[in-house]
Amino acid sequence: MDKIKIKGKKRLVGEVQISGAKNAALPILASALLCDGKSVFHNVPDLVDVRSILMLSEELGAKTEMKDGVVAIDSSGLNNHLAPYEIVRKMRASILVLGPLVARLGKACVSLPGGCAIGARPVNLHIEGLEKLGAEVHISHGYINACAKRLKGNEINFDTVTVTGTENLMMAAALAQGETILRNAAMEPEITALAEVLNLMGADISGAGTSEIVVNGVDKLNPVETEIIPDRIETGTFMIASAVTGGDVLIKKCRPDHLGEVISKVRDTGTFVETGKDWIRVKGVDEIKSIDIKTSPYPGFPTDMQAQFITLMSIAKGVSTIKETIFENRFIHVNELQRMGADIYLPSSNTAVVRGVKELAGAPVMASDLRASACLVLAGLAAENTTIVNRVYHLDRGYERMEDKLKSLGAHIERIK
Ligand code: UD1
Repeated sequence: MDKIKIKGKKRLVGEVQISGAKNAALPILASALLCDGKSVFHNVPDLVDVRSILMLSEELGAKTEMKDGVVAIDSSGLNNHLAPYEIVRKMRASILVLGPLVARLGKACVSLPGGCAIGARPVNLHIEGLEKLGAEVHISHGYINACAKRLKGNEINFDTVTVTGTENLMMAAALAQGETILRNAAMEPEITALAEVLNLMGADISGAGTSEIVVNGVDKLNPVETEIIPDRIETGTFMIASAVTGGDVLIKKCRPDHLGEVISKVRDTGTFVETGKDWIRVKGVDEIKSIDIKTSPYPGFPTDMQAQFITLMSIAKGVSTIKETIFENRFIHVNELQRMGADIYLPSSNTAVVRGVKELAGAPVMASDLRASACLVLAGLAAENTTIVNRVYHLDRGYERMEDKLKSLGAHIERIK
């Protein structure tokens, strides 16, 4: 299994380009299952999770190609409604084929994703929403079986804000008969990006990016050619990489308007942040100030940036309180940071109190999930001596060529096969 070796304390300087967003690419690639014909997507990041959704699409009968960031999906031959456990267990976001399959084929049999390192992560809201749209759903032998001759529009009120739940039901409703209203919908930029692609396909969706989305179902959608938005979490991760190394990094091809709360919090730490239309420059300072963070759905502070921010707070001056409100078990990285000398304690399962230390010390550490692995790489960049991050396959699920990009900024980092 690959590992990443980092010799820390190297100031990062230079320019880096942000890749297409994983969390926008996954639902948008799944949406290609909704129409006959070949859709083409540009700026698709080459990630393990993207490969997984393409493998799943092939399994369902679509033809896919991926080359140099361009993905083509031809779903004319879609003929299989079974999303098997072997693929779904590798990537929870495989659940995104549920809505498209029922809408297009009238049936779906999708493995339940099961638990994951950061908590239970149920899919009850996806299922209840499909039932509201008239699907008959039953669960047996670990699989969700759903069928409907044609889905019918309805009002769906989400109890909890769910990103992939909103996306799944928006896709299903796009081909339903009549009007669907999604209330308490997620407002993430990835939701707006998916709605824009669906509208390009011929759907009639309004309100995406607000908490109420209205979908007027249409009979048919057409293939499209379009581009994936930049990854706001990768952008935020490079912002912290510059801040923790006292660096000076120009982050290009990004969307500062998708990172309002992250930019504001990084600025509150005293770090210098300048923004343009599609770039962010982050200059580290000698003394980072401790600040408090509470994660919440967009436009709040993203849970996917919580682990990276804890690394920054580990070497800040003062005490910082980090509250996680989205997932129940998202502090697994804390144990590993403690092994590098961070002073963190968890007064409750959703709160971390971080007392900044002068310096972290390099150590062998183990990544437990995608964003935790990014936080450990960042800690390695900031720490004295050598850090070895094990189980780096988590990183490859969501960051495109991260070590190459860091190396081009001057980091001493290498992958050990
Ligand atoms: C998506 C993102 C993930 C991000 C998360 C929160 C993708 C592919 N993944 O995950 O990177 O960390 O949003 O911003 O876009 N919940 C239920 N029932 C459901 C669905 C969700 O109770 O049916 C709960 C979850 O357990 C969690 C909360 O709702 O506590 C939010 O989860 P959700 O927004 O659904 O996360 P994902 O869409 O899986």
